[in-house]
Amino acid sequence: MPTALITGAARGLGLGLARRFLDAGWDVIAAVRDTSAAPLVALRSGHEDRLSVERLDLSDFGSIDACARSIGERPIDVLIGNAAATSVSDRGFGQTDYDDWAAMMRVNTFAQLRLAEAFGDHVARSQRRIMYFVSSRVGPEPAPGLIAYRSSKSALNQVVLQLALLLRERGVCVACGHPGFVQTDATRGRGTFTVEESSGRLFSLIERLQLADSGKFFEPDGSELPIVTRQTNPHAAGGVPIGSA
Ligand SMILES: NC(=O)c1ccc[n+]([C@@H]2O[C@H](COP(=O)([O-])OP(=O)(O)OC[C@H]3O[C@@H](n4cnc5c(N)ncnc54)[C@H](OP(=O)(O)O)[C@@H]3O)[C@@H](O)[C@H]2O)c1
Repeated sequence: MPTALITGAARGLGLGLARRFLDAGWDVIAAVRDTSAAPLVALRSGHEDRLSVERLDLSDFGSIDACARSIGERPIDVLIGNAAATSVSDRGFGQTDYDDWAAMMRVNTFAQLRLAEAFGDHVARSQRRIMYFVSSRVGPEPAPGLIAYRSSKSALNQVVLQLALLLRERGVCVACGHPGFVQTDATRGRGTFTVEESSGRLFSLIERLQLADSGKFFEPDGSELPIVTRQTNPHAAGGVPIGSA
C-alpha cells in the first residue's frame, strides 16, 4: 500500500486528510505536535496497522530532522505539508509585530522547505513521488491586511516552484493549492466547505498528480492559478543564469 505523511494531522484539514487516505486503503504517517491528541487517538483505533504517529514541531527544525530519521528508509509516496500557523495577529499599519511575523514565516515557509529537504529521499525512493503543500489563495490576493499570513503563503508558493524545478530530475512532483474556505479552528468553524468535503477534493487531486503537474497551484475544483505573475525577467524562461540579468 502507498504511504502518505501528513503534517498537522491531529485536527482540522490534516485530520480529515488522514481519515480520507486511510479510507482509501493507504498507510498514513501522522506527523503532529501532540501525539496523544484525542481525535488522533480515536482515529488510530481500528487503524493501528496502517496509521502511525510521529512527533513533529515545524518551529523546531531539529524535530523535523528527528522525525525523518525516525521513519528510517521507509518510502513516502505522498508528503503533505498541511500544518501551518493560522492564527494571525494583525494590528494594522504602524503596529506590525515583527516577531510574530518571523515566527509565522518560520513555520509556514521555511519549515516547509526543511520538510522537503528532510523527506526528499523518502519521497524520491517511493512509487508515486509527490509532495503537496497546502497553501492559500489569500496569499497572492491583492487585498489589505493579514500581511504576515499572506506573505508566508505567497513565499511558500515560490518555495514550491523552486522545489518543482530542483526535484524534477529526481522524478518528484511538487505542487500546492488552496483547500477552499474550510470549517476548521482557523476559520472559527465558518467556511464554505466541511473538512470532509475539502479533504475529499484534495485527496482526488493529490492522488492523480503527475510530474507534468509539478510547480502548479490548484484551486479546490482542480483548476489552476498561475503560481507567479509575468512580472519577472522575460528572458528568465529561456534559461538566463541567475545573476546575469
Ligand atoms: N481553513 C481554511 O479555510 C483554509 C483556507 C486556506 C488555507 N488553509 C490552510 O490549510 C491548512 C490547514 O488549515 P486548518 O484550517 O486545518 O488550520 P487549523 O485548524 O488552524 O490547524 C492548523 C494545524 O497546523 C498544526 N500546526 C500549527 N503550528 C504547527 C507547528 N509549529 N508544528 C506542527 N504543526 C503545527 C496544528 O497542530 P496543533 O493541533 O498541534 O495545534 C494544526 O494541526 C493550513 O496550511 C492553512 O493555512 C486553510
